Amino acid sequence: MNYKIALIRGDGIGPEIIDSTCQMLDKTGQIYGFTFEYRDVLAGGRAIDECGVPLPEGALDICLQSDSVLLGAVGGPKWDNLPGHLRPERALLGVRKGMELFANLRPARLMPMLKDASPLRSEIAAKGFDIMIVRELTGGIYFGKSGRYDSPDGETAFDTETYSVNEIRRIGKVAFETARKRRKLVTSIDKANVLESSRLWRETIHELAAEYPDVELRDMLVDNAAMQLVLNPAQFDVIVTSNIFGDILSDEASQLTGSIGLLPSASLGATTRGLYEPIHGSAPDIAGQNLANPIATVLSAAMMLRLSFGLTEAADAIETAVDEVLAAGLRTKDIARGGPHIGSDAMTRALLDQLR
Ligand code: IPM
Ligand code: MG
Repeated sequence: MNYKIALIRGDGIGPEIIDSTCQMLDKTGQIYGFTFEYRDVLAGGRAIDECGVPLPEGALDICLQSDSVLLGAVGGPKWDNLPGHLRPERALLGVRKGMELFANLRPARLMPMLKDASPLRSEIAAKGFDIMIVRELTGGIYFGKSGRYDSPDGETAFDTETYSVNEIRRIGKVAFETARKRRKLVTSIDKANVLESSRLWRETIHELAAEYPDVELRDMLVDNAAMQLVLNPAQFDVIVTSNIFGDILSDEASQLTGSIGLLPSASLGATTRGLYEPIHGSAPDIAGQNLANPIATVLSAAMMLRLSFGLTEAADAIETAVDEVLAAGLRTKDIARGGPHIGSDAMTRALLDQLR
């Protein structure tokens, strides 16, 4: 089997972590008997520099004609002052929307060997947590009507949170199906005490829950959820929430693992074609210094093998290699807590050596 993978290397540390990950993918393929054909897609800041736009023509087509997309990270201070439609982040939003990837899966698990890196108090960290955040990705305020106008108060701007029953149902289904394979608990997070879109969200999720009698459903208001995540993260299994709430809560959850450099993500739609990327950003401050942690991207590739290609054994092998390298005490700087650390190259070699 040969898989076509579109690579968006992106900006900052993006190209480095993608390189490490392709080495891991190639070696996994050698062991388990498949190959990868990579196609570079120019998008993000580099695309702005070279073509004047974040997502040049044809870029999305390559993604849609591939079996999946692997992305490093886009953005950086260099492009921070551009107008909204020309920012590197637009590329990411354009790919998500263009590929109709409405479901963003962000696992946040506290690894036992990294408990000390968590900012949680030790008695809370001791209980551990394993959360799957299912974030709606192509709707809500990110894609609702927005604009500016003059009012008697002066210039005024607006963004609109919009959700339809269909959009809520399809993300809800992903959450319930995911929970079925885990601890069978869905916490749906909204702001139904204030927002009409949240009230429709809650009604729709409750209607859907009737089709999943084996899964427990809990509702939680987003402000309380932000608090519960630090008070008692062990209470969560699957979280399902809107685009913007998911954006915010997934950063919070990731930080609780002590290791933004370790967390992968998958974005999926109606087909098996997905977009896989680390949840961290392009870290321009450490780019090109052999400091980047490749693990989040490597684990994103493992999610790709599992979720898009059904290559369970190969995905397990990559995840096991990561666990073993961490258990052996190897750390890149971001997770070393000031202790001894190795560079990206050495980390990549260690991962390759552990792969069986
Ligand atoms: C994320 C990021 C993006 C988002 C940005 C870069 C557009 O924060 O993937 O969480 O807000 O979705
Ligand atoms: Mg974010």
